[in-house]
Amino acid sequence: MEALDRLSQLEADAPARIAAASDLESLAQIEAETVGKRSPLLEIRRGLGSLPDDQRREVGRRVNEVAQLLGSLIAQRRSILETAAMEEALRAEEVDVTLPGRRPPRGTRHLIDSIQQEVVDIFVSMGYTVATGPEAETEFYNFTALNIPYTHPSRLESDTFYLDYGEVPEGTLLRTHTSPMQARYMELNRPPVYIVVPGRVFRRDSDSTHTPSFHQIEGLAVDTDITFADLKGTLAHFARLFFGPDTKTKFIPHYFPFTEPSAEMHAYADGRWLELLGCGMVDPAVFGHVGYDPNQVTGFAFGMGVERLAMVRHGITDIRALYDPDLRILRQFR
Ligand code: DAH
Repeated sequence: MEALDRLSQLEADAPARIAAASDLESLAQIEAETVGKRSPLLEIRRGLGSLPDDQRREVGRRVNEVAQLLGSLIAQRRSILETAAMEEALRAEEVDVTLPGRRPPRGTRHLIDSIQQEVVDIFVSMGYTVATGPEAETEFYNFTALNIPYTHPSRLESDTFYLDYGEVPEGTLLRTHTSPMQARYMELNRPPVYIVVPGRVFRRDSDSTHTPSFHQIEGLAVDTDITFADLKGTLAHFARLFFGPDTKTKFIPHYFPFTEPSAEMHAYADGRWLELLGCGMVDPAVFGHVGYDPNQVTGFAFGMGVERLAMVRHGITDIRALYDPDLRILRQFR
């Protein structure tokens, strides 16, 4: 009888196919083909009604038998494949929480930056505040307001980088020192003034002790009765904090257009005298430019090169080492 033969055939073939299903998709496919809606099993079941009574009973029993067998084989296979899929997913996502963490390499401040910070901190500890100004500056603030005459050689294009910003009174340039902030700050603030101005400056210079861009720290103290003794005491104190408590300093007469009198401070370190900074009493002409009354206030100013301080402290002989991207050089100064 045809239906019973097909059922026996199915019973004989299907278990091997089910057992061979290697993943859940192919098992679902086999399930559809053996016990699903389009399977021979269902077709036979639908045809039961049109069979003669004696056959219907026998075929019906076999249909249930085979359906039950295949159904349970498929369920077994499915649970095996599901477990395997779960294990595979867990393996793929495995995280070893006991592994040590990966440390990203840690950056450090550049020597120039840390020295600048150290100097600023010393003056902040004496009550100074920090002011910063523009690197692109006008000729007025960089030179004129500081009493620097039009004939001064530092105004030459061979010394200073000029910028082309079109029609600006007196033109624009990359500031050649941090001193312009003296004038800018005093214009906007009434005395007393106690500021330090760290910043980048630019000059047409390039050799073992000069780079076209370098750093300075400017200082300005203006009050009702500031004397040269205040200047000496403040800067000698700075030198002792920076180089050590026994550091000797001396002041040598010098000339700057914006201070009168002017001096260089030298410090005795490593058995020799080293020039550290320029300084002086603020010239009354500068007070005039910013609207301060030279009969009411006095003050002192100073400016120092950060690279120079770094070279003196660390015995660096070529300034360009500080701008070399070779980390082996920079790492020495962590
Ligand atoms: N601006 C000077 C320079 O770049 C340094 C300087 C000297 C600054 C004397 C001052 C000062 O404030 O009083 O060479």
